[in-house]
Amino acid sequence: MAASPFLPLTKADVDLVTSRKTIDERTPHRRSPYGEPVTISSSPSGASGDVTLDSYDATANVYLEQSALPGPAVMAYLDAVAGLVGDGTVLELGSGPEWDARYLESRGPRVLRTDGALAFVQMLRAAGHQARLLDVRTDDFGGPYDAVLADAVLLHVPREQFVDVLQRARQAVTSGGVLAITLKEGDGEAWTEAKLGRPRHFTYWREPAVRAALLNSGWQVLSLEHVEGRVEPWLFVTARTGQVPSKSPRRPV
Ligand SMILES: C[S@@+](CC[C@H](N)C(=O)[O-])C[C@H]1O[C@@H](n2cnc3c(N)ncnc32)[C@H](O)[C@@H]1O
Repeated sequence: MAASPFLPLTKADVDLVTSRKTIDERTPHRRSPYGEPVTISSSPSGASGDVTLDSYDATANVYLEQSALPGPAVMAYLDAVAGLVGDGTVLELGSGPEWDARYLESRGPRVLRTDGALAFVQMLRAAGHQARLLDVRTDDFGGPYDAVLADAVLLHVPREQFVDVLQRARQAVTSGGVLAITLKEGDGEAWTEAKLGRPRHFTYWREPAVRAALLNSGWQVLSLEHVEGRVEPWLFVTARTGQVPSKSPRRPV
C-alpha cells in the first residue's frame, strides 16, 4: 500500500489542541464553554439539511475554533475502526475540520476527506488535501473503499433518508467493508443554535431503530456502544457488509 499523501497528526498539533480551552463535545463530565444546547422555538424554512449545511458553510471557521482533537471515547472508537480497516482506504463523510481524519491516519488507514459544506472543503483543500464536496443525502459515494466513516454527520440527515444513505454507503465498500457512524441518542428531532449561533437540525436515534435500518440496508452490526456525552448521550456504531433481508420469507422446499 502506498504511503498516505495526507498530512499526519504531529505532536505540535496535539500540544496545540490540548492547550486550548475547548473540549470534544463527547468528553463527559466537563463543563462546556459554549453552554447547553439552545433549542429554537420555530423551525427555519427550507429543507432542514440545506439550512444546516448553510449554517456550517457560514461558520466553518467558528466550528474549527470550537472543535478539538477527539476526546478519549472518540479516540477509542477510531482506534477500533483502524483495527478493522488496517492500512485500507476510508471514505470520510462530513470531515469538517479533519480532526478525526488526522487521528485515524496516525493509526494506519488512508482517509479520503469529504464534506457537504463548501467552506470545509475549501479549508481542507487549502491544507493540501484532495477533498471532495459530497452531500450525503443525494450524492453517489464512489468507491469501492474499505470503509465509510461518518462521525457526528448522519445526525443531520432526516430520518426518512437514513436508510437510503446507509444503502449508498453499502454500495461504496468492498465485500467485508466497514461502516462507522455516530449518532445522538434520543427521541424525535430538534433545531438548535448552540455552538454556532446558526440553526442546525438534529435527528435523534435509539438502538433498535438503528439496528433495523442497518439490517435493512445490508449491514451487520459489529458493535453498538452507548456513550455518555458531555451534553447528550451518543451511539457509536461499527458494522460490516451483510445480506439485505428478502422482503418475503422463503418458501420451504
Ligand atoms: C457535527 S460536524 C462533525 C464534523 C466531523 N465529522 C467531526 O466529528 O468533527 C457535522 C459535519 O457534517 C457536515 N454535514 C452536514 N450535513 C451534511 C450533508 N448533508 N452532507 C455532507 N456533510 C454534511 C458538516 O458540514 C460538518 O462538517
